[in-house]
Amino acid sequence: MALHQTETLIPDENGISRAAALLRDAQVVAVPTETVYGLAGDATSDIACARIFEAKGRPRFNPLIVHVPSLDAAFEISVFSDAARDLAQAFWPGPLTLVLPLKPSHGLSPLVTAGLETVAIRVPAHPVMQALLAEVGTPLAAPSANPSGRISATSTAHVLAGLNGKIAAVLDAGPCTVGVESTILAPDADGTRLLREGGLPREAIEPLTGPLITDTTPGRVQAPGQLSSHYAPAARVILNADLTDSNAVRIGFGTAPADLTLSASGDLVEAAANLFHILHEADVFATDHGASEIHIAPIPGKGLGRAINDRLTRAAAPRG
Ligand code: TXA
Ligand code: MG
Repeated sequence: MALHQTETLIPDENGISRAAALLRDAQVVAVPTETVYGLAGDATSDIACARIFEAKGRPRFNPLIVHVPSLDAAFEISVFSDAARDLAQAFWPGPLTLVLPLKPSHGLSPLVTAGLETVAIRVPAHPVMQALLAEVGTPLAAPSANPSGRISATSTAHVLAGLNGKIAAVLDAGPCTVGVESTILAPDADGTRLLREGGLPREAIEPLTGPLITDTTPGRVQAPGQLSSHYAPAARVILNADLTDSNAVRIGFGTAPADLTLSASGDLVEAAANLFHILHEADVFATDHGASEIHIAPIPGKGLGRAINDRLTRAAAPRG
């Protein structure tokens, strides 16, 4: 049952004020960021955070990313080591999330952190999100704006396909430029841990941090939301396919013939920006043509290709 008549807001002064008013009233609003659309709620409000989980249909209370307008705003919530400060100064605003110890005076709803002593925090670069954060005046918790386990949303059409009637509004600023979620790092005493590949490629980070730590030693901080089956279309997903099976929906990369392409020129930045959009399209295409499989060409494992392959591996994982 639809609980809301979901409003589509234009990101002008009126639309941003309307979104801010809804957020101050503890409603949830889908918002543009440079990575993917987020499902935003006031991070200091228990009701707002509960509504985020309800709208997404999340099976459990995974912790949420907190969005703030500036490094100064982040200082009020979390404790920065020198390494954390260097990363923030180098890459904020932008597609980087840092997992940092909470300050005792953080003021966030416990639903945001799922009871952990750390918080995932980022300063997004998108000008509409920046304007909204300035107007709301409180940090915004925002997971990706898709039903739990489904493909992330990089346009208003994707948001509405999954969440229409379940959220108060969507602030429509067109397609996201990066197209995959932020890279998540945890700067620890013994080095910087990579918790999720994302829109900031490893090659850009390592000159600053040295080699990133990617092992998953128990007891170390992990990204608890990283379920293995995720980003899943309805059809079965086959990776590293040769694209010769014409019964499948074929997603190409580079020049080989295909039904849809991530990037005809083999450009990884373009492929990341197209990724979730193409997965949505392939899903619709498979339903329309009665195809049970989506075949995807190999993607090189460098730069943004690592984040793309991470998302595709989850889309192809056996469903739990
Ligand atoms: O680009 C993005 O990061 C987007 C946009 C909207 O900002 N947001 C996003 O949020 O991808 P979400 O909820 O889909 O992913 C949040 C990830 C999860 O894997 C979660 O487990 C991890 O962040 N996370 C949150 N708090 C954490 C913490 N304290 N320690 C470790 N991982 C944490
Ligand atoms: Mg997500």
